[in-house]
Amino acid sequence: MIELGINVDHIATVRQARRSVEPDPVWAAAVAELAGADGITVHLREDRRHIQDRDVRLLRETVRTRLNLEMANVPEMVEIACDIVPDHVTLVPEKREEVTTEGGLLVAGRESDIRPTAEALRQSGIRPALFIDPVPDQVRASLDVGAVAVEFNTGEYSLATDQETVELCVQQLHESAELAAEIGLAVHAGHGLDTRNVYRILTLPHLAELNIGHSIVARALFFGFESAVREMKEILLRYSTTA
Ligand code: PXP
Repeated sequence: MIELGINVDHIATVRQARRSVEPDPVWAAAVAELAGADGITVHLREDRRHIQDRDVRLLRETVRTRLNLEMANVPEMVEIACDIVPDHVTLVPEKREEVTTEGGLLVAGRESDIRPTAEALRQSGIRPALFIDPVPDQVRASLDVGAVAVEFNTGEYSLATDQETVELCVQQLHESAELAAEIGLAVHAGHGLDTRNVYRILTLPHLAELNIGHSIVARALFFGFESAVREMKEILLRYSTTA
């Protein structure tokens, strides 16, 4: 079965718009789990624009499924992760001026930067994953530095406006997912997925997990957070039982 990780960053975005105490991403995580989420994901950014340290600490206490912390590969974050011990850490590239994560982490050629972090995370009992573009060199390098999973960036796919680009993105994702599984990496995917574009991604071979945030929070405004999570979970369940 393909598992659903719900990213609750944008619940915190609304809270931080008023530097208030609500809506609380910790509550959102509990509702997501009650609605069928298989995991909770948060991105603790260096600029703390949405998720705060307090959120990650509380989520570590309250999440009953598994907690995936997205973070940049910088000493401050590695220290926080090794202290809080989420189930997974997904390393992502981070730029202060970006609105959201743009592109995957460059692993090939930067192995010496990433290997010690993956090792430190493993030593602390955390499973290291890398958010990468679907490129064979990045997949091989991910194994080389000690990752246990790769999350393929579906951002380019989700932004594609013509069929040719969609097909090219899907083909690259398929080939990279095959390679990742062949060399022993778990296959995750995410970024920009919604109830319309998720179907092609569900066909990826060996796909174990999707991480979805923005579109769930957007639909939650109109239909409620629980319904939005449940709707996506049902799509994944229906696909898993018919595939
Ligand atoms: N995976 C990663 C690594 C991300 O950085 C994000 C965005 O925070 C997501 C998945 C979820 O993307 P979206 O919010 O577009 O669903």
